Amino acid sequence: MQSFQLHERAESVPTEASYVLTDWQKGYRSLPHEYSYEIDEIDGEIPVDLHGTLFRNGPGLLEVGGQRLHHPFDGDGMVCSIAFDNGRAYFRNRFVRTEAYCAEQKAGKMLYRGVFGTQKPGGWLANFLDFRLKNIANTQVIYWGGKLLALWEAAEPHRLDPHSLETIGKEYLDGVLHPGSAFAAHPWIDPETQTLVNFAIKPGLSTTITIYELDATGKVIREHAHAVPGFAFIHDFAITPNYCIFFQNPVAFNPIPFAIGLRGAGECLKFQPNKPTQIILIPRDGKSPVQTLQTQSGFVFHHSNAFEKDGAVCIDSVCYEAFPAVDPNSDYREVDFDALSPGHLYRFRLDLEGKKVDRHLIESRCCEFPYVHPSLAGRPYRYAYLGAAHRSQGNAPLQAILKVDLETSDRQLWSAAPHGYVGEPIFVPRAAQSYQDGLPTTSAVGDEDDGWILTLVYDSQRERSDLVILDAKDLREPIARLHLKHHVPYGLHGSFTPEYFGCAG
Ligand code: CO
Repeated sequence: MQSFQLHERAESVPTEASYVLTDWQKGYRSLPHEYSYEIDEIDGEIPVDLHGTLFRNGPGLLEVGGQRLHHPFDGDGMVCSIAFDNGRAYFRNRFVRTEAYCAEQKAGKMLYRGVFGTQKPGGWLANFLDFRLKNIANTQVIYWGGKLLALWEAAEPHRLDPHSLETIGKEYLDGVLHPGSAFAAHPWIDPETQTLVNFAIKPGLSTTITIYELDATGKVIREHAHAVPGFAFIHDFAITPNYCIFFQNPVAFNPIPFAIGLRGAGECLKFQPNKPTQIILIPRDGKSPVQTLQTQSGFVFHHSNAFEKDGAVCIDSVCYEAFPAVDPNSDYREVDFDALSPGHLYRFRLDLEGKKVDRHLIESRCCEFPYVHPSLAGRPYRYAYLGAAHRSQGNAPLQAILKVDLETSDRQLWSAAPHGYVGEPIFVPRAAQSYQDGLPTTSAVGDEDDGWILTLVYDSQRERSDLVILDAKDLREPIARLHLKHHVPYGLHGSFTPEYFGCAG
């Protein structure tokens, strides 16, 4: 483990990698067991004023019936919760009991194709014209309106019990959603309106983007749909007080190999480097005209934040030179990190009157999974937290947590290299006044970095995972390292609620 403060960009490039591929691969083992226990192996101390529950989602199974998945994104969703109260922490994990998970576990074999190339056994004939989507509920989990929802962008959410993580059933938001309705895995909470803003994508020759806004009780109070030209693969978006902002990256979809059973849908996406990215601004009022600006080619999965300032809209995003194509013949565990372009953090400044976009590089270290103070969602902000590579250059697995000061360009980095691999850094504000009735609020943000960063770290030496708590003001040494009794496979996204859903439930 190493930690250091970065005031200047490191000039020298170490020749040795900070990781060993076979170590990294071990984090992609299934966790078939479900646990429930108080964490009692702790280095350091859990802050007594850290109160609430961290929820986190990701693939829990990397094979079904002995057949390996072609891509981890096809793995069945497994939700973890870590509930904090008075210096103690309680861990729980459970699989989301989706229809497909239950059917496949009962049958002991793969019954569905995965979007990212996992095919049923039996070759192309067994997969021919099988368009059933396996709703794997594996991407994000949020507590909103008294409901815990596991999200997967191409279909409806699953509702879970926030204490036990048991699956209650599919969630249709009082009939607003329908069976098979998409509902993205990247909602934002607007701290001003205390609404949850999310979207749904219906792709086709033209793409329909539907915006949903839910009040604090979980009721949909606004819904509006917009058709945009062309195919769109949109995973995330950003909000400001007035806009929902989408990047329509230049990706084409050829459905034929999917339809005839040769490839998964995700393998039929083709990046088009000579075409621009369309930046689509949909007014949140649902009435004003949609605006579209163009910028250069590239691919974005995740946005850090967006805000309006001096008549312009700024949006900060992790960009790749190209969409990392899912190769039907490759093994994801054998990925050559050096052969892929890393994600870099950029700021896009959108001049809506002049219809111009300026783009500049904020961070050239390989990074992903940006996170910001929840009270500053859609507002001007100073700090971004990201998962990052240990080395300052090149592409590599995420082994470090990076704090970027957008005002001074200062950086702080905590690295778990060479044996540790980090997940998304979830920022939790210390101040109780950052929340009102359990929701983020813009009043009294105070010190923007006064809080903690929570992240799951896979320790390849012990072959277990730790929940690491960092002081967001000073990343040098973790405040606490909570050793789990097992590993947790590399996951996707999580969220924090100040409500406690621990062992008392
Ligand atoms: Co995501």
